[in-house]
Amino acid sequence: MSIHHRSRAALSLLAVALFVLPAARLAAQTAAAFPSTWRYTGRARVAEGAHGMVTSGSAVASVVGRDILKAGGNAVDAAVAVGFALAVTHAEAGNIAGGGYMMIRMQDGKAYALDYRETAPAKATRDMFLDDKGQPTDKSVSGHLASGVPGAVAGLLAAHQRFGKLSRAAVMNPAIQLARDGFVVDSFHYRSLASVQQRLKLYSPAAAAQYSVNGQVPLPGSLFKQPDLARTLAAIRDQGRDGFYKGWVARAIVAEMQRGGGIISAADLAGYQPKWREPLRITYRGYTIFSMSPSSSGGATLGLILNIMEGFGPLPPFGSTALLHRESEAMRRAFTDRNRFLGDPDFETLTMLPSMLSKDYAAKARADINLAHATPTPPFDPSIKDGPNTTHYSVVDARGDAVSTTTTLNNSYGSAVLVTGAGFLLNDEMDDFAAAPGKPNMYGLVQGEINAIKPGKRMLSAMTPSIVLNPRGELTMVVGTPGGPTIITQVYHVISNVIDHGMSLPDAVSAPRQHHQALPDEINLNTGGFRQAVVDSLKAMGHTVTFKGGGDVQAIIRIAKGWQGVSDPRGGGAAAGY
Ligand code: GLY
Repeated sequence: MSIHHRSRAALSLLAVALFVLPAARLAAQTAAAFPSTWRYTGRARVAEGAHGMVTSGSAVASVVGRDILKAGGNAVDAAVAVGFALAVTHAEAGNIAGGGYMMIRMQDGKAYALDYRETAPAKATRDMFLDDKGQPTDKSVSGHLASGVPGAVAGLLAAHQRFGKLSRAAVMNPAIQLARDGFVVDSFHYRSLASVQQRLKLYSPAAAAQYSVNGQVPLPGSLFKQPDLARTLAAIRDQGRDGFYKGWVARAIVAEMQRGGGIISAADLAGYQPKWREPLRITYRGYTIFSMSPSSSGGATLGLILNIMEGFGPLPPFGSTALLHRESEAMRRAFTDRNRFLGDPDFETLTMLPSMLSKDYAAKARADINLAHATPTPPFDPSIKDGPNTTHYSVVDARGDAVSTTTTLNNSYGSAVLVTGAGFLLNDEMDDFAAAPGKPNMYGLVQGEINAIKPGKRMLSAMTPSIVLNPRGELTMVVGTPGGPTIITQVYHVISNVIDHGMSLPDAVSAPRQHHQALPDEINLNTGGFRQAVVDSLKAMGHTVTFKGGGDVQAIIRIAKGWQGVSDPRGGGAAAGY
């Protein structure tokens, strides 16, 4: 090592110490804030590595990514390999017929945001999911009409083409092998498959057949093979995007649509394009966060929550009524704006987007918060124009390139429709549109005309893949999660737990979380995560409190010896580093 390199290494160790040590000092303070009823204390799955790190909702897929890094691939190669592997090993949300968002920050400091969200088919209409009384039907959630034009294959290949170092075959062969030769079912995968059998049987005999063996759910420890999916993946490997959007796979999708009354056409498939967007840049207490721009609402809503919270100065202790009230009121205001003002920027003018990211606007929103009492969410005017299951993976390579990707079929196992003969599930992303502006969707989100269905339009998302730089401008954290609208608040909590509450990343990810999305007007708390006295005082302040859980954060943080990957104990994933 040259002297120059040695002093650079010493400097970066010092920088790590500067930003890690204060966190360690505060950690004892925060551990006491988790009540004894909280089941995930100390249960995050953690890996450490000096060079590179991958964490995802599937241990098998994380190992695929880690091996791509070891073979000389960069973070984008590994992310693309993980994306295809998840379509095999994490069928509830990993996909090739869904869509997603990829935040990339290369070691030279440049950041990129890739939008490969699904689009509404050309034959889609504003009221296609309403019955003759104008009420929303469940056709946006299950069945053939629920599917938007898939974006995942075009997105993964676009990222690979722009930044990848290895060949397409090198990044896709592991997934093809896992589909063809099988992978060992674990207990998480078993429970997931068992839970969906009835729904699959109802909507798609082909899906029920694909995700069972001789009519039975494959048992933990058994080898699970998907030969049709292997053939589809091989077509993509050999022909690139045409292997999916044209040729026999595209014909199989169109035939599946005709079988079940869906509307995706050959022209919709051939015309699908991912979009490179300008990443949103948020600053928070000297840290910089790159997050996703519309068509996802994730970055803008996260930015407004953080900007409101920043102005409170040092935050009240973790788990306290004072903190939960402030957070809930910040989230309420950010989601109120999200639901009214955000949609697909290619179809709508997002006049309020700059405000949602401005510190002045956040200061006005903060001034409006009554610190002693809940502010009811205003009635929703949908005409203003201005399980759920998704999965996230984070990657850092030895050069310091970072990728944060969230992808989804929307509901767990998407629309429950499998493309017969091609071995993959279709998404039910059409439910993320405001199928009936002013009425709640699957997530209870009440959204406006700005997110109404139009042919070719992208449905508003909450996915929030994010990359955090420390005050020195160095890559320090990569983070994201599934969870519908709770994605945004989960990402907020992990970032705030580390920066404000000094938690280690395993604690920050395991910690109980709270969520408020304006409507329904309630604070949702992780069951068992907060003390009864705190719950009682929130109610006394005028909040309605409900209890739920969920999420599957996959995050990486810089540590003194390299990288620490953390997989949420709420899910079944794992981190893999080297
Ligand atoms: N499908 C969930 C989301 O995109 O927000």
